[in-house]
Amino acid sequence: MPATMLTEQVTDAQLSQFGKLIYERTGIRISSQKVSLLSNRLRRRLRATGIDCYTRYLSHLKKLPPNDPEWDAFLQEITTHETYLFRDAGQWDWFQETFLPEVQAAARQGKRSKSLRIWSAASSTGDEAYTIASCLAGKLPHHSQWDIKIVGTDIGVGALEQARNPRFRERAMRRVPETYRRRFFTKSRDDVWTPRPELAAWMSFSQHNLIQPLPGKPFDLVILKNVLIYFDAASKDVVFRNIDRSIPRGGLLMVGPAEGISDIVSGYEKVHTWLYRKS
Ligand SMILES: C[S@@+](CC[C@H](N)C(=O)[O-])C[C@H]1O[C@@H](n2cnc3c(N)ncnc32)[C@H](O)[C@@H]1O
Repeated sequence: MPATMLTEQVTDAQLSQFGKLIYERTGIRISSQKVSLLSNRLRRRLRATGIDCYTRYLSHLKKLPPNDPEWDAFLQEITTHETYLFRDAGQWDWFQETFLPEVQAAARQGKRSKSLRIWSAASSTGDEAYTIASCLAGKLPHHSQWDIKIVGTDIGVGALEQARNPRFRERAMRRVPETYRRRFFTKSRDDVWTPRPELAAWMSFSQHNLIQPLPGKPFDLVILKNVLIYFDAASKDVVFRNIDRSIPRGGLLMVGPAEGISDIVSGYEKVHTWLYRKS
């Protein structure tokens, strides 16, 4: 790590330029209360990169492509990847006890094919995607006859790298039901849990910024949790419209308990405070 003598204090004008760049690239709005936090974190990035001036670091960032490791390190300073398996238990009860039986009944009655596409938007290190896979493996009978795709996306390349090579610590596993732990995960001697290959076979992870639409086929269910808390109303609206393009009529959108999008969700029936069905 290069040592840098950083004597300069970041100015309000520079902070607002960083805030503008973050907003343009990600939709994340740095609130005025968080500005002092940003200045400490910027200082860390300058030290790590060996750049001794805030303006130079800003122009450096502007030139980098979104998948550059420095963008990832910078975004890590302003977002959190906090996640764990079976977060918000009630939603996973609904997934197993209502959603999967309904999907299965519809397939039995010939009203749909035996295929299921689920998108974990803002998947972080993959804990949500592996929760989906555990529920499917546990509660969808004859799942080997189904064409199942679980797509995880996130803006953070480091988080995605971990999602592709999942190694869950006890903290991330603390809410996983005992039977699922035993059936679908293997614990190594260093107390790390690895999902069985049958779960990983359904997954794909890729980098995607929610302020852009995701190309490709629509999904039966989109899970968008604990990410829009960083966004202002305008960028929440942009994200909702992009997500909406990936949901067909009758498709479902599951959000986090604190997502705060009830005002902008239009064209959907509210099934729960955290669940919407496209009309
Ligand atoms: C707190 S984690 C949520 C993980 C998981 N959905 C959950 O609820 O446990 C938030 C994630 O949102 C991602 N994120 C933030 N802004 C994003 C954007 N514009 N596009 C895609 N992902 C973004 C972050 O990288 C982070 O991994």
